[in-house]
Amino acid sequence: MSGDPPASLLRQFAAVVGAAHVLTGDAAAGYAVDWTGGFAGRTPAVLRPSGTEQVAALLALCADAGVAVVPQGGNTGLAGGGVPLHGEVVLSLARLDRLGPVDLDAGQVSAGAGVSLQQVADADPGLDLGVFIASRHSATVGGAVATNAGGLRVLRYGPMRAQLRGIEAALSDGTVLSHMSGLVKDNTGYDYPSLLAGSEGTLAVVTAAQLQLVPRLADPVTVIVGADGPGEVHALARRAVREVRGLLSAEFFTQAGLDLLVEHAGLTLPLRPPTPAYLLLEAAGPGAAEELAELAGDRPAAVGTGAAERARLWACRERHPEAAGFVGVPLKLDVSVPAARWVRLASEVEGVVAEADPGARVIIYGHVADGNLHVNVVPGAGVAASAREAGPAGADGRHEDAVFSFVASLGGSISAEHGIGALKARWLPLVRSDAERALFARLRAAFDPAGILNPYVLPR
Ligand code: MLT
Ligand code: ZN
Repeated sequence: MSGDPPASLLRQFAAVVGAAHVLTGDAAAGYAVDWTGGFAGRTPAVLRPSGTEQVAALLALCADAGVAVVPQGGNTGLAGGGVPLHGEVVLSLARLDRLGPVDLDAGQVSAGAGVSLQQVADADPGLDLGVFIASRHSATVGGAVATNAGGLRVLRYGPMRAQLRGIEAALSDGTVLSHMSGLVKDNTGYDYPSLLAGSEGTLAVVTAAQLQLVPRLADPVTVIVGADGPGEVHALARRAVREVRGLLSAEFFTQAGLDLLVEHAGLTLPLRPPTPAYLLLEAAGPGAAEELAELAGDRPAAVGTGAAERARLWACRERHPEAAGFVGVPLKLDVSVPAARWVRLASEVEGVVAEADPGARVIIYGHVADGNLHVNVVPGAGVAASAREAGPAGADGRHEDAVFSFVASLGGSISAEHGIGALKARWLPLVRSDAERALFARLRAAFDPAGILNPYVLPR
């Protein structure tokens, strides 16, 4: 169906969720733009179901009417995958907020799609969620599963997919799939929970997940080590992975991003004098402080043990997603390369962007042990104007062309942890073959024959 849904369909939606939970006009506007301001669309209606059966019923109505749907969780995504850029109906999962009792035998909990990651982490004082991301207070379970969120502790616990022990989801024909057994070992057919992880709302709508929790670690130690550049950061991080037994995080950022945070967000420098690059390491358990100190050697370093001091050091890294936003609306390019090529990526990517747009501002940071780099680009003045008109894909695609081609030439991925979304759909052929994309399309047709689920995310 093209155009907005007719009033009769809006009435059918209201019959399922109640009129108060079909938002239109100004009430719907906030759901149509992401937090960076880089993705702004419009929606004829936001539907706010309170449970799985309502989700299924709404999807069946949309499928019958051929109305495209964008599922949305905490709206913290960074690739435009949860924003209605083409006038889709928004299906907000925020009210699916039931957190089950913690199963202490299994160390697991079931959580509705709308539960925040922080609520899961707080479910039991002795346990924690292995996925730890800066947006954890707003990001929700459904969105984190759908995008296979990564974050700051992937080197230790893996991404969201690795925490999944079961899933509940609704297909676009109104079928509810539920496999919430929580079994660690379960070879009874296709592992579709894994397939839904990272599917970005294109196969089914995740309504709940059974999540493995991890032991809550006591007294972590955080260290920021100053370095002369990406080469030294990478070498130290590699050693840390091998030598620091309780390592949780190995994070990279630069003085360029820190300068913006000092100027605009009131952060204080972790080290004086400043250094060009930084490695933040966090570890817990026996010997953590000694092993981190041994690793830092006589390099400049700041150590945090108490909560306040750790938070101060972490702010230097965790607030980096905001840094480029102080100079403009950034393109957030999240890429990864094989470990041995990360130094080339981090050292050369700014030059690659400069060739495409000499006026661009580039801020880089990322998860060095995962080979993952976040390249935030604020287009130069002349280009920025057209970016506003051209929309969220940013400028005319020259920055993405440059960065993604470079990454592909290094054998890397154009999306490490943020997904393909609307931002990167065009560049998928750089890293996925015709045969792979054809298989994606067949899977998609099998799950969503009506073709209504996030149709503009991951090309069909
Ligand atoms: C991060 O690592 O800080 C997140 O992936 C968010 C971002 O890249 O901006
Ligand atoms: Zn990240």
